[in-house]
Amino acid sequence: MSQYFTRKPLSMLLEEAKGENRLRRILGPLALTSLGVGAIIGTGIFVLTGIVAHDKTGPSIIVSFLVAGLACIFAAMCYAEFASMVPVAGSAYTYAYATLGELFAWIIGWDLILEYAVGAAAVAHGWSGYFQSFIGIFGLKIPPLLAKAPFDFNVETGHFVSTGSFIDLSAVLITLVLTAILVKGIKESAGFNAAMVILKVAIVLFVIGVGAFYIDTNNWSNFAPYGWGGVSFFGNTVWGMVANDGAPLGMIAGAAMIFYAYIGFDSVSTHAEEAKVPQKDVPKGIIYSLVICTILYVLVAIVLTGMVPANQINIDAPVSDAFQRIGITWANFIISLGAIAGITSVLLVLLLSQPRVMLAMARDGLVPPKFFGAIHEKFRTPYKTTILTGIFVAVLTGFLPLRILAELVSIGTLFAFVIVCAAVLIMRKTNPEAERPFRAPFYPVTPILGMLICTLLMFSLPLENWWRLLGWLAVGMIIYFSYGRKHSIMNPNNKKS
Ligand code: ALA
Repeated sequence: MSQYFTRKPLSMLLEEAKGENRLRRILGPLALTSLGVGAIIGTGIFVLTGIVAHDKTGPSIIVSFLVAGLACIFAAMCYAEFASMVPVAGSAYTYAYATLGELFAWIIGWDLILEYAVGAAAVAHGWSGYFQSFIGIFGLKIPPLLAKAPFDFNVETGHFVSTGSFIDLSAVLITLVLTAILVKGIKESAGFNAAMVILKVAIVLFVIGVGAFYIDTNNWSNFAPYGWGGVSFFGNTVWGMVANDGAPLGMIAGAAMIFYAYIGFDSVSTHAEEAKVPQKDVPKGIIYSLVICTILYVLVAIVLTGMVPANQINIDAPVSDAFQRIGITWANFIISLGAIAGITSVLLVLLLSQPRVMLAMARDGLVPPKFFGAIHEKFRTPYKTTILTGIFVAVLTGFLPLRILAELVSIGTLFAFVIVCAAVLIMRKTNPEAERPFRAPFYPVTPILGMLICTLLMFSLPLENWWRLLGWLAVGMIIYFSYGRKHSIMNPNNKKS
């Protein structure tokens, strides 16, 4: 029984970090910040903003962005503290192992698959949608048989429906191309990411700079048409209005949904092993990328809700539609390009992060180390897991309806954030003397508020997500009890010495 709560000592983690078979240390603060921004700005701002403002919040989506951003800033401070203490690849998984014990670490490692691999599959679908509409501008079209996953889930009827397609080919191809770049090397991956980030940030700045001239403050007169609440507890709305389908409405409900737009900053912590000076630069990468994106998001929300009355915001392509309305039709081209670049880099960084968490789990024996721990001799990348992740994501995105799985991504990530905030509280108690090159400010307020706001947002997501999360964790438990527990390096029967 005690093995489940065995903690991996900090000294052991630090010793391991010096060992052989490590990744290549080439990332500086700029590259790390760029990876963070690369992972953050994507489908959320280019698609979700419209749905949330139109259906849940009205112009108060501006405040929703601030609330979700605040939850992330608190969590980011905690990630930064840990990343500076334990600069290895496992991120939240490793932090949980050092504080809450093996079982929790496994749960978080398994949970992170939702954020990274399942998240990547959902994002690849978004990429395919934008790509197809972009080539449509030039009169090109993917044959219908290759344009979508074979079936979809109809939320209204609750049934699966055939789409008439066989495979979402462009989603599969982009996943495989990015996987090849990732196998080749972290330098190539970071370089490719930086190019995408420059393009998408330039286009977001264009949206803000030009859109600002078309703001009509009358559009904000009914600022929170659905109120400021939207908090639910296992499907029962305890504060705020309720939609016809039972989902909560209002500013907080909007924050829970728009939280998706911030997912990704934590992936910087999975690159700790590739950072030149991880103790200093990883915290910088996490915090800078999050602050930059929060400012950009709030400004885009101000511009969008100022340009278009909330009830007329387009839910499929809110930003480019806003520009069509003011007669700048060519903006469609630029904004689609920004969305494609944006979503490409999100996909790249999510695909980059997943193998690094698996690598940490493999080193601990919780997944087969020969395969998941293998590092390419020349490229110094975890190539086998990267290829496996690429194939897994390509199959998911090519053939499955991801509407349901995509919602899992937010609840899974919020769960990881709650654990990391809790882990900081525990670590300060258990290892008060440990060296902390970065300390979360305003301790213990920061981790406590981080836990509270993230839990509030988890509760404000529709109920089904909780069941799906629990189902996913149950599958993880079966794997842990049939493999991980027996092969863990912390299992006394496995000790080689
Ligand atoms: N934050 C990422 C996006 O919005 C997941 O696409």
